[in-house]
Amino acid sequence: MENINISIENVLNFVTKEEIHGYHTLISEHYQALVNNTGEGNDFLGWVTLPSKFDNNLILDIQKTADNIRKIADILVVVGIGGSYLGARAVIESLSHNFNQLLSKEDRKSPLILYAGQNIGEDYLSDLFDVLKGKSYAVVVISKSGTTTEPAIAFRLLKNDLEERFGKAGAKERIIAITDKEKGALKKMSDKEGYKTFEIPDNIGGRYSVLTPVGLLPIAISGINIKKLIDGAVHMENIIRDAENFENNPAGIYAASRQLLYRNGKTIEIMASFIPNLYYLIEWWKQLYGESEGKNGKGIFPAGVIFTTDLHSMGQYIQDGMRNIFETVISVKATKKELRISSNAEDLDGLNYIAGKKIDDVNKMAELGTIMAHNTGKVPVLKITIPELNEEYIGQLIYFFEIACGLSGYVMGVNPFDQPGVEAYKKNMFSLLGKPGYK
Ligand code: PA5
Repeated sequence: MENINISIENVLNFVTKEEIHGYHTLISEHYQALVNNTGEGNDFLGWVTLPSKFDNNLILDIQKTADNIRKIADILVVVGIGGSYLGARAVIESLSHNFNQLLSKEDRKSPLILYAGQNIGEDYLSDLFDVLKGKSYAVVVISKSGTTTEPAIAFRLLKNDLEERFGKAGAKERIIAITDKEKGALKKMSDKEGYKTFEIPDNIGGRYSVLTPVGLLPIAISGINIKKLIDGAVHMENIIRDAENFENNPAGIYAASRQLLYRNGKTIEIMASFIPNLYYLIEWWKQLYGESEGKNGKGIFPAGVIFTTDLHSMGQYIQDGMRNIFETVISVKATKKELRISSNAEDLDGLNYIAGKKIDDVNKMAELGTIMAHNTGKVPVLKITIPELNEEYIGQLIYFFEIACGLSGYVMGVNPFDQPGVEAYKKNMFSLLGKPGYK
C-alpha cells in the first residue's frame, strides 16, 4: 500500500515552511495527549487506537450480519443523522458506482442503500415509502443516544411498515439497531423487541465513529470490504505514530498548516475534489471539523465543493471574493475505468485537440489549472493526494482526517470532542412541540 500524501507547495507564498514546521513540538505534545488519553475530552478518545486494536470477532459478527441482510433484502434503509449517518454514506458513495440506484441488484451485487432520519422532510419520507412499497427491505437504525428525534420519527414509521408487512417476527429479522450498550429509548426498544444490536463504544463520539459498527455495518451490507478499510486506517495510524520527522507526519502537517493559515486570517477552509464520488466524504469532513472546532467564538468554517461543477457556481467567489479562504484539494491519481475522447472528422465542437486523451487527463489539467488560478488569486491551496479510490486509501484518509482534527482542535485551544452547541435548536423545537419537560 502506498501512503496518501500532503503537499504544502501552494501555501508557501503565504506562510513559510519553517513556520509550519515550527508547530512540530506542539503537535507532538498534542499527539501524545491523544494517544495517552490526557488531553481535553479524554473520555472520547476510543477512536485513536481503534484501528490497530480492532476486535476480529466484531468484524466477523458485522460481516455475518451483513451477509444475512444481503440475502433477504433488496433495499437497506440506513436510519441516522450526523455522526450516525455521514461516515457510512461517505465511504459507500466514495467506493460505489455513481449510478448505483439505477443498476439492477445483480449488477450492483448488493442491496440498494437508502437513507432516512437525516432530515424531517415529510415529502422525503413519503417518497421513501413509495419506493419501499412491495420491496423486500431491511433497516439499520443508528443512534448513540437512542433519543434523537429525526431518526426516531423515521424509525417509528419504518418499524410499523415492516411489522404490518412481515409480522413481528419478520420485522425482527430485518431490523438491526446500533446504539449505546445500556442507555436510551432505542436500547430499551431493541431489548424488548429482541433486535440484533451492536454497541457504540462509550468513548467514541458520533463524528469519530465511522470505523465502529455505526459505519461498518452499512458499509459491509453495501458490499465494501471492511477489513481492507480498517487495514488502511491501521496503515495511517502506523505512519503517524512512527513519523521520525515532521515532514513524514501528514496529519501533523495538515493540522499545523490550517492553524497557521487561520492565524493569518484565513477563517474558511474549502475542501474540494474533482471526483464526484467524494461529495459525501466532504460532507463527513465538514461535520468532523465543524462540530469539533466551531466553539467558544473560534473555528475555521468548513465548506465543500465538487469541481469542476462548482467552478461554475462558487468559482467566481473563490477566485475573486473576500480573501479569508484557503482550499484543500483531495486529488485522486488513478481512475477505476478508462474512457477516451473520440476524434471526429468534422470537429464541429472543436474538441479534436484533445482527441485520444483520457477524460481524467482533462480533469487533471482542470485541477492543476484551478490550483494555479486560485493561488494567483491569493488562495493558499493544500493538496492531499491518494493513489486511487479503494477501501485501503479511504481508510487511510479517514484516520488521517480524524487525527488531524484532534490535533488541530487542541492547537486552537478547544475541546474537539464535545458539541454543546447542537442542543440549542433542540430545546426550542421541543418547547415549541410541547415535549414534556420543555417549556
Ligand atoms: O457527532 C455527533 O455527536 C452528532 O452528530 C451525533 O452523531 C448526532 O447528533 C446523532 O446523535 P445520535 O447518534 O445520538 O442519534
